[in-house]
Amino acid sequence: MADDDRPVLVTGGTGTLGRALVHTLLDAGRPVRVLSRRDRTPAVPDEVQWQVGDLLTGEGLPQALAGVSVVIHCASNPRKPDEDLDAAVQLMLACRAANVPHLVYISIVGVDAVPFGYYQVKRRVEEIVEDGGIPWSILRATQFHDFVATLLGALAKGPVALVPRGLRDQPVDVREVAARLATLAASGPAGRVEDLGGPQVLTVDELMRTYLAAKGRHARVWSFPALGPLKRFRDGGHLAPEHATGRLTFAEWLQH
Ligand SMILES: NC(=O)c1ccc[n+]([C@@H]2O[C@H](COP(=O)([O-])OP(=O)(O)OC[C@H]3O[C@@H](n4cnc5c(N)ncnc54)[C@H](OP(=O)(O)O)[C@@H]3O)[C@@H](O)[C@H]2O)c1
Repeated sequence: MADDDRPVLVTGGTGTLGRALVHTLLDAGRPVRVLSRRDRTPAVPDEVQWQVGDLLTGEGLPQALAGVSVVIHCASNPRKPDEDLDAAVQLMLACRAANVPHLVYISIVGVDAVPFGYYQVKRRVEEIVEDGGIPWSILRATQFHDFVATLLGALAKGPVALVPRGLRDQPVDVREVAARLATLAASGPAGRVEDLGGPQVLTVDELMRTYLAAKGRHARVWSFPALGPLKRFRDGGHLAPEHATGRLTFAEWLQH
């Protein structure tokens, strides 16, 4: 499909994953369109078609979807997860109206295993995609390095770095997730595909020490019991050690 001159629509094309995906698609020679609630900025590559719109209201969706070969749905609002459900319904209805041939959705490893609110919403969005009447592909990935670094930064704000005891994570490079999504978009509807996990499963303690070393910080590390919502990640349902196909480690990412 490299010679397909119909645009690929990326929802969430301004986000962490979406920005990487836009570059990956452009590098592969694919025409790219982005749907965003915001106006275009000078940082957006000239080749990108820009459509202002909002998945919640449906504004701009018919224009965004006109003539696309595939939609890659990366938009999400973890602060108000329920909005993701309304957004998904609006998107599927608009895709049906526009006869979109393929929709690719990015989900998270363990959305059906970890009883955490945002994950439960992501699983319901998967169901909306599966039942939406548009040929689909769904990829589940583990946490992005960027996200893990942001969390660790927040836990290490003070003189002592705090880590929830016994939790592990398997962060992955967002460019590797973007590459897999671009391949899926080019290959056609595939249903639920193999999960994509980062190369290493590490304790949060190990991740924190790696983070502090990369930042040149000498803070003491104190562990605290993983209670409340964190408790739900203790069983490791968000990990995919059997799909540790990502290559760039967290330590390497911190150096980039
Ligand atoms: N972060 C992780 O570790 C991780 C791991 C696995 C999977 N994922 C999934 O990957 C996807 C991308 O995550 P991310 O961290 O890259 O996201 P992000 O940086 O928070 O970006 C969110 C994007 O959603 C768009 N958006 C939100 N509400 C919208 C609406 N009503 N209408 C249109 N666009 C809307 C925003 O666009 P504008 O503000 O420009 O409108 C923005 O581009 C999400 O589905 C997430 O669940 C994330």
